[in-house]
Amino acid sequence: MRAAALAFGAAMVAASVGPAAAQPAGEAMTPEEATAKICSGCHSTQIVMDTPRDYDAWHQTVQDMIDRGAQGTQDDFALVMQFLYENMTTIDVNHADEEDLMTILKTTKPVADAIIARRSKKAFKDIADLENAVPGLDAALLEAKKRMIHFQQ
Ligand code: HEC
Repeated sequence: MRAAALAFGAAMVAASVGPAAAQPAGEAMTPEEATAKICSGCHSTQIVMDTPRDYDAWHQTVQDMIDRGAQGTQDDFALVMQFLYENMTTIDVNHADEEDLMTILKTTKPVADAIIARRSKKAFKDIADLENAVPGLDAALLEAKKRMIHFQQ
């Protein structure tokens, strides 16, 4: 998973003695809980939900927030990145790699591979085209994420 490979700037290491230390040992947070905890201190998490962007841009945004004073451990920020990757990251279905297709469209490897096989012959036009051509996608998820799902020709 991408989040595991992240490295944030040195400020974060220094910040690891913040409120995150209060978390009881052994009680792992979910990605959502980590985001609620770390990203709601200075502004509402609505600001996070309002602005989907690509994964690299999220990485940059989180680094900016660390520079502004966001506090958490390396593990906390990895969970935040996981949350952002799974829920608030944009995707170009006609060019995304298999991992992005699986994570962002929350689908299986065979379905991601079916997407890649079809687009190599003919680029997808829109979500309806995608759903018609590739069985096994989650229609409700596609609807909920439609503003993040793009089809660059
Ligand atoms: C220490 C305070 C602080 C924390 C904690 C914090 N932010 Fe921010 N954030 C800010 C400030 C200040 C702004 C600028 C507000 C504005 O532009 O009106 C901002 C703005 C933003 C914006 C809108 C601007 C943009 O870049 O598009 C996003 C998105 C954002 N924060 C995401 C996050 C996320 C994700 C987290 C959790 C990792 C987080 N913030 C935690 C201080 C913080």
